[in-house]
Amino acid sequence: MCGIVGYIGHREAYPVIIQGLERLEYRGYDSAGIALYDGDNLKVSKTKGKVEDLKSRVDKEITSSGSIGIGHTRWATHGVPNDINSHPHVSNSGNLVIIHNGIIENYDPLRQELINRGYTFSSDTDTEVLVNLIEDVKKNEDVRLGKAVQIALNQTIGAYAIAVFDKTKPNEIVVARLGSPLAIGVGDDEFFIASDATPFIEYTNNAIYLEDGEMAVVRSHKKLKIRKIKDDSLVDPYIQELQLNLEQIEKGGYDHFMIKEIYEQPDAITDTFRGRMLVDQGIVRMAGIDDNIEKFLNARRIIIVACGTSWHAGLVAEYIFEEFARIPVEVEYASEFRYRNPVIYKDDVVIAISQSGETADTMAAIKLAKKQGAFVFGVCNVVGSSISRETHAGAYTHAGPEIGVASTKAFTTQITILTLIALKLAKHKGELSNSEFRAYLQELERIPAKVTEALKCNEQAEHVAAQYKDAHNALYLGRGYNFPVALEGALKLKEISYIHAEGYPAAEMKHGPIALIDEQMPVVVIAMRKGHYEKVVSNIEEIKARSGKIIGIVTQGDKEVKKLADHVIEIPETLEPFTPLLATIPLQLLSYHIAVMLGKNVDQPRNLAKSVTVE
Ligand code: M6R
Repeated sequence: MCGIVGYIGHREAYPVIIQGLERLEYRGYDSAGIALYDGDNLKVSKTKGKVEDLKSRVDKEITSSGSIGIGHTRWATHGVPNDINSHPHVSNSGNLVIIHNGIIENYDPLRQELINRGYTFSSDTDTEVLVNLIEDVKKNEDVRLGKAVQIALNQTIGAYAIAVFDKTKPNEIVVARLGSPLAIGVGDDEFFIASDATPFIEYTNNAIYLEDGEMAVVRSHKKLKIRKIKDDSLVDPYIQELQLNLEQIEKGGYDHFMIKEIYEQPDAITDTFRGRMLVDQGIVRMAGIDDNIEKFLNARRIIIVACGTSWHAGLVAEYIFEEFARIPVEVEYASEFRYRNPVIYKDDVVIAISQSGETADTMAAIKLAKKQGAFVFGVCNVVGSSISRETHAGAYTHAGPEIGVASTKAFTTQITILTLIALKLAKHKGELSNSEFRAYLQELERIPAKVTEALKCNEQAEHVAAQYKDAHNALYLGRGYNFPVALEGALKLKEISYIHAEGYPAAEMKHGPIALIDEQMPVVVIAMRKGHYEKVVSNIEEIKARSGKIIGIVTQGDKEVKKLADHVIEIPETLEPFTPLLATIPLQLLSYHIAVMLGKNVDQPRNLAKSVTVE
């Protein structure tokens, strides 16, 4: 998983590409590189580390960068992150240069064949094999670059989004995709290439998203032609007008994207139900559901597939769907689902949840479910993403760009949209009366204001963070709707502060984890007044009896937990099914402050990337 950027046109290529790479660093940040043709020479600079390391190296060297170039920010798959394995990779002749996001699975036999034909390799990457394969085809078949790319790709197995150009013909870039995203920004006599639209949004709102199995030869003064890689047939380019603006992808005065995104949640949740939830009329309107309502109403069961935080949102949805719509739900890790032999019925509805819409395991689970005849519905945030296009129908969360690697607003907006769907189905099935349905909508409409209120616990969360930042372990407990929130709280702490944390159903604690509790162990307990409150209070007593440090996440005005806990953070009251939308806020803030205090890279935690497009 990596970010790729390219430019061809009338501007200096370097600033466009380097800025684009900065915006794509969420996709990986092991190493970064750039290739520019300045009219005389091909300059390739690459380095282990982040885009800023590349920048500090290249800035000094660049006087004129020419108007064609490509750049890459890497999340290593083949070969350790070092300077040599960084992209771009240059062919043996020194003429062709490539960037690649994905994996060429049969790179080893291809590499052997090329070695037998005299090619040498300096890196351990599959990408260097690909660029030399293209060179070999070009030379032997005496074809133009576009054709050579096409022939070479038809010999590969795997996934890719690539951009490649030839320094001897620096008037075109050839791009192709299979399994990894690739967007082309269409300007006036200029084209931008990127893994998503953020690198070019200030230059153009017009974008083409290549479909899997498509390629294009991009020339600045010519119309774009898109072809199918397999059979060379022409495809009509579909130019979309994007609704993204620059402000949305910048930090806007916050220290980190994560905290900005935490604070964006009231607006993000509002944007999720805007135009869909018509409270006065007692209607939930969603095209993806309305057009397929029979599929949902006749579903034998709903299977939710997702990874990470999106999987946690799926677990919350399980409670919500079963409670409201009375449809049986199974929630599966996409990565497990795809590799076993799951029983999928034609009347199952599969819901795939993914912020990025690019997660490889979720994508594979979708393909499996489709193959077995199920109807697949996508819940994605990124518009035009691969998953949103692979599913039969879907709904966007409209949370706006989430840049911080730790998901925050994606989680709450996924829960919001899934709640809307569950309520809508419940109404159709007659499981909720009109007045019950309306009461739920009214409360959901109040949630953004309640999230704003919950965010006022920021200082308190910071205070608690200061006391536990040096802990080595933490336990997060919740019951019912808030068990998945406990899992999510633990994941947030792990991924950005590198403190080991476990989420557990509070009642399960006595079946094992209770052995971990001593005076060193912070235990975050979600103890909402609605739902199993007394039981959770008993669990808190058990922790207290073993000298654990208790951080209670409680409903405003709580009395019981206050007496027992070392700290309490209060959040507003709401209906039980909506408590995850509020209880998650202090947990996000707690982990954020701990990570900041520990001096960790909050937005780009080690070893992680925003979208995991490898298996
Ligand atoms: O883009 P997706 O929602 O499909 O991503 C799934 C996970 O990779 C993601 O939620 C990951 O767990 C986050 N880093 C959690 O904060």
